[in-house]
Amino acid sequence: MTSHAWGLPPYQSKPRYTTEAVELVAVDFENDVIVGFLDVEIETEPGRLGLLTHEPCGFVWEFGLLQPYRGRGHGRGLVRAAETRLREAGIRRMEFWSMDPDAQKFYSRMGMREINRHWRFWARLGSRVEIPGLPPTVRLEIAQWTASEEDWPAARAALDVVDDPPLEPHICLGFEHRF
Ligand SMILES: CC(C)(COP(=O)(O)OP(=O)(O)OC[C@H]1O[C@@H](n2cnc3c(N)ncnc32)[C@H](O)[C@@H]1OP(=O)(O)O)[C@@H](O)C(=O)NCCC(=O)NCCS
Repeated sequence: MTSHAWGLPPYQSKPRYTTEAVELVAVDFENDVIVGFLDVEIETEPGRLGLLTHEPCGFVWEFGLLQPYRGRGHGRGLVRAAETRLREAGIRRMEFWSMDPDAQKFYSRMGMREINRHWRFWARLGSRVEIPGLPPTVRLEIAQWTASEEDWPAARAALDVVDDPPLEPHICLGFEHRF
């Protein structure tokens, strides 16, 4: 894995969206290969997917380029192409979220506004959680958690946090991109 943008192993097939979405690919026509993608689902009501609720957003679920194609302006190109299509649908903002430090730098460089930061982490539960109605051999052993920056130290002290890659804690940043 070359990015912490995805917290879990990558999908084996392309995600599908239940409502309207802008789904773009970048193609290297010389080598006939898809080298990048950007999937933006359009909110049917403000706050259904995104954090901010003042107007509906295009919520970015998937965004990436194959490694050799990064740093050549294609990420910016995909964002610009999505802006054009979203504008046609009456949408003037996107929300991007990422746990990957390089992607966070890209979003800042693009002039996007940070709207939230929180920690995402995995913690072992041991025998703490019993699930009513299930036999004792069925146990919840590990779970994914989130915590605000403020509450992160208390969460870290109280829980058996997993520190081993690729499940180590990451700070997740949300950005609003207006266009
Ligand atoms: C994040 C990603 C999509 C950006 O696309 P890209 O094609 O590499 O970025 P671009 O070349 O269009 O860069 C646009 C601007 O951001 C800057 N930038 C890009 N990556 C940067 C980084 N890691 N640090 C600082 N600036 C960066 C570029 O220098 C450029 O600025 P400039 O035009 O002023 O010179 C791409 O690097 C990628 O696929 N990363 C791995 C997957 C991932 O993390 N996806 C995000 C999912 S949340």
